[in-house]
Amino acid sequence: MALRLAGKTGLVTGGSRGIGRAIALRLAAEGADVIVHCHRNVAAAREVSSRVVRADLGSVEQIEAMFQSLRDVRLDFLVNNAGVWKPSPVGSTSIERMNEIIDVNLKGPFWTMQCALPLLNDGARVINISSVAAKTGVAGGRSLYGATKAAVESLTRNWAMELAGRGILVNAVAPGYVQTDMTAEHLGNPANFERAMARHPLGRMTMPDDVAGVVAFLCSDDGAFVTGQTINVSGGFVI
Ligand SMILES: NC(=O)c1ccc[n+]([C@@H]2O[C@H](COP(=O)([O-])OP(=O)(O)OC[C@H]3O[C@@H](n4cnc5c(N)ncnc54)[C@H](OP(=O)(O)O)[C@@H]3O)[C@@H](O)[C@H]2O)c1
Repeated sequence: MALRLAGKTGLVTGGSRGIGRAIALRLAAEGADVIVHCHRNVAAAREVSSRVVRADLGSVEQIEAMFQSLRDVRLDFLVNNAGVWKPSPVGSTSIERMNEIIDVNLKGPFWTMQCALPLLNDGARVINISSVAAKTGVAGGRSLYGATKAAVESLTRNWAMELAGRGILVNAVAPGYVQTDMTAEHLGNPANFERAMARHPLGRMTMPDDVAGVVAFLCSDDGAFVTGQTINVSGGFVI
């Protein structure tokens, strides 16, 4: 594999499992020194990288403490990947559930970015992991999830404008359904599985490596003139 990221250092949030794990491993395979963030699964994160940090991204205090521990690090990339996908049917959602989804999926990336900004080198890359749910309706009562991802795509466009003066490129990647712990219960139901498959014209769901390859491109010199974009990696779920 080409070492497009040799000499680069970055942070991947939610790198202990699923899509974030695949992203961290791919960036490392391309030569980067990758710091992996996790919430609880420290052992899993350590299998991905020897450099692990930990925080509940639903807590601004914990985000700030994490960046205090990183204060001597310079970052060439930041991947805001961690997230939660929990039901929030309108009419029966608790305040606690509403706050959790918004705290982790929206306030989390915002505060992470705010704390990371002084550590980011000029020309750094920021990649936010969105979802096709930002642009489509899906059955199953997850409107708050979709709303937070739509908001993340808006953050992406606005940060790209705000940070262009420092040459910092900000993009989002929006996967279709991916079979990870996040979706295991939902896709374990055969009817849900068939419905999810049917939304991918290319005939399979998104793989974590499909996402990781596009993130690696965006972190590399090959992506040097791309900013403010959301790239759908969804086999045609969103066209
Ligand atoms: N799976 C899909 O179908 C799909 C589709 C489109 C977009 N996405 C997006 O892709 C990203 C990764 O999803 P995934 O499927 O890989 O999820 P996953 O397998 O459930 O992994 C979630 C990751 O986020 C971390 N995390 C969860 N809650 C957290 C919190 N409160 N604070 C900090 N970190 C937290 C977890 O850390 P621990 O391991 O320590 O718990 C883990 O590393 C998410 O943003 C998701 O919305 C997923």
